[in-house]
Amino acid sequence: MKYAVLLLLLIGFNRVSAQPSDRVRDSLRDLSRKDHRLMMDRLGITELRPGPSGNPEAPNAANRDESKASPCTFLPDPLVFDNGGGVKTSQQWQLRRKELIDLFDSEIYGKTPETVPAVSWQVLEETDTTVGTYDVHVTQLRGEVDNTIYPDIDVTIDMELTVPSDTMLVPLILQFTWNLPAGWRRPPADGPTWEEQLLKQGWGFAKIYPTSYQADNGAGLTQGIIGLVNKGQPRKMDDWGTLKAWAWGAGRAMDYFETISAVDADRVVIEGLSRYGKAAIVTMAYDQRFAIGFIGSSGAGGTKIFRRIYGEQVENLASAGEYHWFAPNFIKYAGPLTPNDLPVDAHELIALCAPRPVFISSGSPDVEGHWIDARGMFLATAHASPVYELLGKTGLGTMKYPPEGAALMSGDLAFRQHEGGHTVGPNWPYFIEFAMRYFEP
Ligand code: GCU
Repeated sequence: MKYAVLLLLLIGFNRVSAQPSDRVRDSLRDLSRKDHRLMMDRLGITELRPGPSGNPEAPNAANRDESKASPCTFLPDPLVFDNGGGVKTSQQWQLRRKELIDLFDSEIYGKTPETVPAVSWQVLEETDTTVGTYDVHVTQLRGEVDNTIYPDIDVTIDMELTVPSDTMLVPLILQFTWNLPAGWRRPPADGPTWEEQLLKQGWGFAKIYPTSYQADNGAGLTQGIIGLVNKGQPRKMDDWGTLKAWAWGAGRAMDYFETISAVDADRVVIEGLSRYGKAAIVTMAYDQRFAIGFIGSSGAGGTKIFRRIYGEQVENLASAGEYHWFAPNFIKYAGPLTPNDLPVDAHELIALCAPRPVFISSGSPDVEGHWIDARGMFLATAHASPVYELLGKTGLGTMKYPPEGAALMSGDLAFRQHEGGHTVGPNWPYFIEFAMRYFEP
């Protein structure tokens, strides 16, 4: 019991908690492996193909040779129904959208339960202060989840909301924020921070801490919001993974924005980087209240084509270190099935966002590395374009991979590979210019 309490504290339910010690990290890894193995047993799988290494010097380094990236020539068509019929109208697209959602639910991200306990938002603290030269009003919030169905598990959502002082109905950027210890934070880049850039436009921002309500490991799947709904039991094969749980939290944040006059809930952006970029595109795809997506270096499991043999692979995502992001069913695609057996691919996840605007951001492969596969993200964006066009919007407008720094943002889907590393940092000014087109009164 003591051990369970210790785990609860350290799994990441409190964003101010210390980082786990090596010993706790080892036991979390063991518990994740155990749950991963249990899911494999239930799927009747004995062995998985190992993924390549992210270390470019390793003998099994992930492929970064474009000529070897695309042995498969087939990509599922978002505009063809499962029965082979064509999708020709926006009404038909609504039906096709449901088909795609069912496939993403059962095979990749898992199904968000139909009833998840309610969240009530508490204001913990309100402060009038400044960010740079801007006067702001900051609210510390905690979303308390009703746990009467299983009182052993407490779940709370941590969020901080910052809006320009004395204004109403501002556009807002909701960021999935990393809970990094102080020493790990990057030094600020030159020039105004992203927060200052948003405040300059008169926009606000909110930071939601995903690990406050669902830990980022397999050990935590019997805890957090997933564990609460399952009353502490392991997941079923099409149960939601962590990305869907994180997206659920963003949806509850949106519920809160809908109740306050400071924020214009019709102009809320969802933003995230890397695994939180994956969570951001999943949020955007499923919750149609979000107006725009700003998706940073989300790579495999996010906006990169799964079928491409370049950088991170399905085999990595399905391993004990990352499978928790997905439904247990997804593990099958690392053996006996292959990524080519997936009924859907990442371009169709982007298409689920249509007709709402999405900006896909990547760093420079020379700086960020090739793991996230910038071209794979570009291709997914390009192949999502026909759905935008069917709905009367403008897609990416080209199938030609742009050089670093070129901003493809004349349509409702945007792509830009900046000159920096694993961050959205240098793309903020471009994203703001893109979003202004939709947010200007
Ligand atoms: C790892 C993982 C990626 C993920 C990234 C991150 O590199 O393989 O899929 O996006 O971590 O979240 O930083």
